[in-house]
Amino acid sequence: MKKKKINKKSIIILSIIILIILIEIINPIKLYNKHVLKQLNYSNSSAETILKFKLKDDILKNKYNEALDIILASKEYQNDNYKIYKELNYYEINNYVSLVNSLIKKGYHAKDINNILKNSKEDEVKSFLENDYDKDISKYLQYDFSLLRNYNRYKEYYKKESLDYEDVVVQVNIGLDKEYYTDYNEIKKFSKTMLINKYNGLVQDFVPDDLILVDEEYAVDKKQKGNKEMVEAFIKMSDDCFKEIGSKVLIRSGYRDYKSQEDTYNLYLKTYGKKYAEEYVAHPGFSEHQTGLAIDIKAESSNTFEGTKESKWLLENAYKYGFILRYSKNTEDITGYNYESWHYRYLGVELATKVKESKLTYDEYYIRNLNK
Ligand code: DAL
Ligand code: ZN
Repeated sequence: MKKKKINKKSIIILSIIILIILIEIINPIKLYNKHVLKQLNYSNSSAETILKFKLKDDILKNKYNEALDIILASKEYQNDNYKIYKELNYYEINNYVSLVNSLIKKGYHAKDINNILKNSKEDEVKSFLENDYDKDISKYLQYDFSLLRNYNRYKEYYKKESLDYEDVVVQVNIGLDKEYYTDYNEIKKFSKTMLINKYNGLVQDFVPDDLILVDEEYAVDKKQKGNKEMVEAFIKMSDDCFKEIGSKVLIRSGYRDYKSQEDTYNLYLKTYGKKYAEEYVAHPGFSEHQTGLAIDIKAESSNTFEGTKESKWLLENAYKYGFILRYSKNTEDITGYNYESWHYRYLGVELATKVKESKLTYDEYYIRNLNK
């Protein structure tokens, strides 16, 4: 009888101990908390960190934050930095967490860090970290199109030019702080939106896609060529111009290969001298004419284009057919060319409309919106 009693008692005690151990292992509260955090989208490792540092209440007050999730899950998480981590956006960059920690250590707060990491690569951030802390960094890097790799150039250009920060960033990104043709990108691939200027040149053997001859009814001779889509849009534009004002427009000069651009430049150099040639003709490899998307236009009614009814009609209507006036008045400092009332560039209707509405040169529009 006594033996049985002892047995019963010890079974109860043993059961309680097992239960306590089980509760400790399973930990339903912890399980529940993890479940809540996972529902919010946080990873299992992040949830562990959140519970370890008792951050749950604060985390639940805010929306899910991908940057924070990645940092919380990382071995490099530092709880002292939590307040800054909370305000970060995630940008795909190698060693994100380590870079964030280094930037915080340098004295940067969340807004600066987001701006610094936004369009950057790891090595660019690492060399930036070699500089002293700069309280003005976000003045330069606040724009979607700001580039950390140009940071030192922004600062230099800002000191030299009386421009606001936004114009400094745009102009440096175009390349305007450097001499024409001295430091340029080499463009190999055709695209309707490609930017060609004194800082973006084509390889010598570049040939546009879908190059066709222009029907002589729409050109000054039988030799003019251009990209097919551009030529078709031009024909439609010329026909409508004729319908509306009784006179059409013709292609005076369409596609020019590297060699014929060289000949054109040399002819201008010989005839008008260096200054004039530089202001009106691109160096070979740097002409939009080599893309097959640019044309010099002749008015049917006159040999001089400027001031004709056709030129006026084009200024109003060209964008509807996908063309923009590429070198407009008072933009010489940006485009690097004098006003050319006859030179139009095909971009397609949608983009041409946006560029026209922006009232910017294509160089500026591209740098602000398309420079990926
Ligand atoms: N006239 C333009 C700038 C060119 O040569 O491409
Ligand atoms: Zn031209």
